[in-house]
Amino acid sequence: MDGIFITFEGPDGAGKTTQLRKLAEELRENGHDVVVTREPGGTVISDQIRGIILDPINQEMVDQAEVLLYAASRAQHVHEFILPALKAKRIVLCDRFIDASIAYQAYGLGVDVETVKAVNRFASSGLQATRTYILDVPVEVSLARLHHRASGSGGIAQQLDRIEQKNVEYHSRVRAGFHQIAADHQKRVRVIDANRSEDEIAGDILADCKRLIEEHLSV
Ligand code: TMP
Repeated sequence: MDGIFITFEGPDGAGKTTQLRKLAEELRENGHDVVVTREPGGTVISDQIRGIILDPINQEMVDQAEVLLYAASRAQHVHEFILPALKAKRIVLCDRFIDASIAYQAYGLGVDVETVKAVNRFASSGLQATRTYILDVPVEVSLARLHHRASGSGGIAQQLDRIEQKNVEYHSRVRAGFHQIAADHQKRVRVIDANRSEDEIAGDILADCKRLIEEHLSV
């Protein structure tokens, strides 16, 4: 039996990175072998591609290039890092995966959904997450959090990347896209209300994840 592949998704500013780290800590304390990674990124080549995709200077990037760059970064990540980790029976927690391309490039930008799915099936050799947590917050909340970060009010000012700089309508389409993905994949996806305290959110995710691991071990 291979390891378990768990992905975290949701709008920018939903708090998924914090929740992913919390889950990793809990699982490690319970003796599980966990690795944490992210997209775009996770390998040297994938991180170089991330730099091109997110650089605010690349305003001319066409939609087709954006889809293919995310997929290229993912192809390297899946084959160099994720699949070997799963073969070694590890639990892989990944900050974003193919659902992000469907929500952002297909629903957000308007690229044909089936094309985005086909490109990503090729890139990932058909790999799918066992469980996906979509952290859901209203667009006003996620954008307010991003701008708070960008202003440095939380301590360090962080420039918004090329995707984060897009307008409210774009981010609303992305959120609707995540809802559609959840409706299409009810067995795999859990939508988590992320407009609550960090501990409440973490508690829900941990409870679900423990059940998932038990089911996996009993097969
Ligand atoms: P991050 O902020 O979660 O690190 O992700 C970087 C940005 O890239 C974020 O705005 C979401 C976006 N993104 C896509 O548009 N498509 C994708 O396939 C992935 C993985 C991320």
